[in-house]
Amino acid sequence: MSDTPPPQTYRVKSFGCQMNVYDGDRMGDLLTAQGLTAAADGTDADLVVLNTCHIREKAAEKVYSDIGRLNRKDGTAPLIAVAGCVAQAEGEEIMARAPSVRMVVGPQAYHRLPEMLQEAVAGRRVTDTDMPAETKFGALPRRRRSGPTAFLTVQEGCDKFCTYCVVPYTRGAEVSRPFADLMDEAQRLTEAGAREITLLGQNVNAWTGDDAKGRTVGLDGLIRELAKLPDLARIRYTTSHPNDMTDGLIAAHGDVEKLMPYLHLPVQAGNDRVLKAMNRSHTVESYLRLLDRVRAARPDIALSGDFIVGFPGETDAEFEDTLKLVDEVGYAQAFSFKYSPRPGTPAATMEGHIAAEVMDERLQRLQAGLNRTQVAFNDATVGRTCDVLVERKGKFAGQMIGKTPWLQSAVVSTSAAIGEMLTVDITTGGANSVFADERVRAAA
Ligand code: 5AD
Ligand code: SF4
Repeated sequence: MSDTPPPQTYRVKSFGCQMNVYDGDRMGDLLTAQGLTAAADGTDADLVVLNTCHIREKAAEKVYSDIGRLNRKDGTAPLIAVAGCVAQAEGEEIMARAPSVRMVVGPQAYHRLPEMLQEAVAGRRVTDTDMPAETKFGALPRRRRSGPTAFLTVQEGCDKFCTYCVVPYTRGAEVSRPFADLMDEAQRLTEAGAREITLLGQNVNAWTGDDAKGRTVGLDGLIRELAKLPDLARIRYTTSHPNDMTDGLIAAHGDVEKLMPYLHLPVQAGNDRVLKAMNRSHTVESYLRLLDRVRAARPDIALSGDFIVGFPGETDAEFEDTLKLVDEVGYAQAFSFKYSPRPGTPAATMEGHIAAEVMDERLQRLQAGLNRTQVAFNDATVGRTCDVLVERKGKFAGQMIGKTPWLQSAVVSTSAAIGEMLTVDITTGGANSVFADERVRAAA
C-alpha cells in the first residue's frame, strides 16, 4: 500500500457505554495533541475512529456496515481505525474482512494511536490489542476542556465473570487507577469547567487505592477526598456490583453532601436459580437487604438497574419473579435487554435458549413495568425543591435542561447559562423528565 497524506481532521464515533464515551473523548484529546482538528459537523473527516461496543449482538455486523458507509461517492475513503471492544475481540477478523480498515486498536492500547497513525500513513496496516499491565492513562495528554458534567474513568475491567458477559474478556481484569492521578485529573477537570464528575468503571465500586497518607481506601475514600475540591459541586459513580457495595460506600451516601442520591446497581434477574446460572453471586434477598441498608443511609436515593430477559432456561415463572422485584424496588430508571449469546461466554453453550418471540414479549412486559415505576418515581418528586445543573438548551426558547440530584432531566424556564446551578421546585412529573420552576439563582 502506498503512502497516504497525513490526516488533518478526525472524527471519533463512540458506541455503547459511558466508558466508551470517555475513551472516545480521550482519543480525541490525543489526536488534537498531534495537531489534528475535530471535523466540523456535516463534513468528511480524514481519519475516522469507530469506537465499538461488543456487549450485545450484531455489534460486529454494525461495524462492517459503518465501515461500508464511510466510502465516499468519489471512490475514496477516510483513514479508518476500529477501536473499542469489537476491535479487542475480533481484530484479526476485521483486518481480514475489511481492507479499508488501517488500524485496529483495543481499549487498553489506544494511547499508541499516534504511533499507529504514523505507520498507517506510511502505508502499513496495524493492530494493537495488547493489554499491558500499566494502564494507558499515564500516556494520555492532560485534559483542557470540559462541559459542566464530565466522566472520569477510575477503574476498568471485571473479575466477576457473569456467564453471559464478554467484558472480562474484552476489558480484562479489574484494574484501579492510582488515587493521586485521579485527584489530579479531577482537579484539572474542575479548572476546565466541570462542576459534576461521574466516576466510571465496569465495577466502579471495586475501585481501591492508596490515599495521600498511604492508607488503602475504597471508592468512598476517593469520593470523600474529591468532595473537598471547592469547585466540584456533584459526584456520581457508575456501574456498581452488589458484592462490592461496602459499608463505607453506603455510609458516604448518608454523609457526603456532594455525592448525589442515585445508585445504579444492576440486578439482572429476580430469580435465584437464574442468578446462580448467571454467576451473579448475590440472591434476590441479599440484593433487597442491601438496598434496605442504602435506603437507611439515604432515604431519597433513586435506584436504577440493568436487566436481562430470556437468559437460557428462564421459565415464565422465573421471569415473573423479575417483574415482582421491579415493583418491590420501584426503580427510578433502568436498562433492560434481551439475552444475546456472546461467543466464548459460558451461557452461549447452555441448554434452553429462549425463542425470539418469547424474549420480545418478556422485554415488553418488563419495560412496561419499569415504565410504571419510573413514572411513579418522577411523580413522587413533584413538590420537592432541589438543585439543577444546567447542561443544555431546551426545545423552546428560554428553556434549559439539566439534571436533578436524582438524575432526572429537568426542563426549566430560565435565563441561566449552561454550567449554572439553579434551585428549582419540581412541578410536573413525566416518564423521562420533569418540569421545574426556578426559585433562586445561585451566584454564577
Ligand atoms: N446479553 C444481553 N445483555 C447483556 N448485558 C451484558 N451482557 C449481555 C448479554 N450477553 C447487559 C447487562 C449489563 C449491561 C451493561 O449489559 O445487563 O449489566
Ligand atoms: Fe459483565 Fe458481570 Fe462484570 Fe458486569 S459484573 S461487566 S455483567 S461480568
